[in-house]
Amino acid sequence: MADDAIDAVENDASAMRALGVDAAARALSQGAEARVFALEFCGRDAICKQRFAKKYRLPALDERLTRARLVGEARAIVRARKLGVRAPMVLHVDANEACVYMERVAGVALKEALRRETCTREDIARYGREIGEAISKLHDGGLVHGDLTTSNFMVRDDDGAVVVIDFGLSYPSAVPEDKGVDLYVLERAINAAHPSQTELFDEIIATYKKTSKMWCATLNRFAEVRARGRKRSMVG
Ligand SMILES: Nc1ncnc2c1ncn2[C@@H]1O[C@H](COP(=O)(O)OP(=O)(O)O)[C@@H](O)[C@H]1O
Ligand SMILES: [Mg+2]
Repeated sequence: MADDAIDAVENDASAMRALGVDAAARALSQGAEARVFALEFCGRDAICKQRFAKKYRLPALDERLTRARLVGEARAIVRARKLGVRAPMVLHVDANEACVYMERVAGVALKEALRRETCTREDIARYGREIGEAISKLHDGGLVHGDLTTSNFMVRDDDGAVVVIDFGLSYPSAVPEDKGVDLYVLERAINAAHPSQTELFDEIIATYKKTSKMWCATLNRFAEVRARGRKRSMVG
């Protein structure tokens, strides 16, 4: 086994021990800044998202940043839910262990759902409408998601509804440029991961236009951001 693979396994084991959940927890994902475990919390299906230190940052700075991000993420989820956006309920924040506990969504990543052979045009149109409405509620409420990709939406098993996850890069903003960039990131992600299903993004934008009170300013900025992106990719 490679050194960092062993490191990762040991980190996982010690992180789980620290949480007191060694036997029951199951690792769901390990990203660059956080790992996610499935576990039970107060008798319900939950996940724990634990942020970990980055070795190249100064420890004191790192601790402050990690804590700020953790609290920021929990706040953003709570705010999103208040705005009427489907997002997992926050159950507990443990600042010492840098963990957010939240409701576990039983479902698959939108990325998987789109790749299923059974995924129809009607499904794509409905996903687009739900996502467009969710983003418009976030933006009108002054919240930018910051990491809109098809991995950060889940499709719920029981009713097929789209749930927004991963508010790790979210921040409050009312600036059209920030919202335009939010949409542009999503367009790029869909074009890259689902090149034959780009009607998903068309539906998202059509719904955004219908539902956001500030659609005009945001979509103008979006067009500018996109034009800048095109120019950059032609030069570089
Ligand atoms: N509330 C949740 N319910 C079920 N699975 C989740 C939940 N939150 C995260 N996950 C799973 O963990 C993965 C990583 O979580 P995410 O918040 O996206 O962190 P990262 O910043 O590492 O991408 C997700 O892609 C998803 O598979
Ligand atoms: Mg994610």
